[in-house]
Amino acid sequence: MTGIGSRLIGVGSYLPERILTNEELTRMVDTSDEWIRSRTGITSRRMAADDQTTSDLAANAARDALARAGIPSSSVDLIIVATVTPDRTFPSTAVYVQEKISAGTTMAFDVSAACAGFIHALEIADSFLQTGRAKTALVIGADKLSCFLDWNDRATCVLFGDGAGAFVLQADPEAETSAVLASHLSADGTKSPLLYADGGPSSTGTVGLVRMVGNELFRAAVNAMSDALDISLKRAALTPDDLDWFVPHQANIRIMHGIAERLNIPDEKVVKTIQDHGNTSSASIPLAISTAIDDGRIQDGNLCAVTAAGGGLAWGAAILRF
Ligand code: UT7
Repeated sequence: MTGIGSRLIGVGSYLPERILTNEELTRMVDTSDEWIRSRTGITSRRMAADDQTTSDLAANAARDALARAGIPSSSVDLIIVATVTPDRTFPSTAVYVQEKISAGTTMAFDVSAACAGFIHALEIADSFLQTGRAKTALVIGADKLSCFLDWNDRATCVLFGDGAGAFVLQADPEAETSAVLASHLSADGTKSPLLYADGGPSSTGTVGLVRMVGNELFRAAVNAMSDALDISLKRAALTPDDLDWFVPHQANIRIMHGIAERLNIPDEKVVKTIQDHGNTSSASIPLAISTAIDDGRIQDGNLCAVTAAGGGLAWGAAILRF
């Protein structure tokens, strides 16, 4: 840490009501519950309602995180939303969240780093706190991926779900460390064809649909997340044995096992919510952490590693103190 210390004072989440099961998907595309479970670990995922926007999901998660932190929205002076499914091309989804939670005229902007968006947003927020540019940050990962899935493509539509998760981070001059003890972020644009949306305002003038080269992405994702985690641990002068919990991006249970095996992290320390959430992109890590706090696994003082990789490729890892 080079500046002011910080603490993570609240974690919240929101999942839409509608549950889409593997069974239902078998009536939509040529797939099976057995294939989806064995190849991905997913049994169901949530789908936002047609009239629910990403900022609705994000604002619900933000309210939950603020309530758990015990502070009003007026205390927040930085809002960052990580998303690839903004309500509109512009303005940012963060300004809609700001309006919905009545956070005044605070700084608010979005971060686009696909599934690694939340870790990027967290790192930016922590830097603002360390340098005194902000005192209380709301960091949200929110995505409504159902709105740009190709529901005829069985290789992608079975993988994703909708949701949002949020952290409240606060600067604390008395704290000896930052809530983010160490991190590593990286990207490789040459691998963008492995996962992307085939549209955009300045190319096709459309939103596009998700396209993925699954098996190549699988290998790249395991390598990227393992490396980023290894670098982050070394930066924090820690070993995998020091970790209480490992919360990888919930993209595929086999990817999660692959990373844990490479770093010798025992399976009982790996937080898995993919079975119920699917891949919720930037919401995946805060949603999993929120679940593990609620069921009593993650406790105050625990050391937790997070890592994510996705479209870009963009990837990263961070070591967090709860
Ligand atoms: O969030 C960003 C990070 N995301 C990732 O990193 C995702 C990475 N990739 C993956 O998780 C996996 O590659 C998938 C789950 C997407 C696919 O699993 P896979 O074991 O790599 O399968 P595959 O793509 O090699 O396909 C194997 C077979 C193919 O059939 P053939 O050619 O062997 O006859 C596919 O057509 O599985 C078929 N297949 C399906 N079968 C039933 C693909 N999707 C399905 C499906 N149901 N939904």
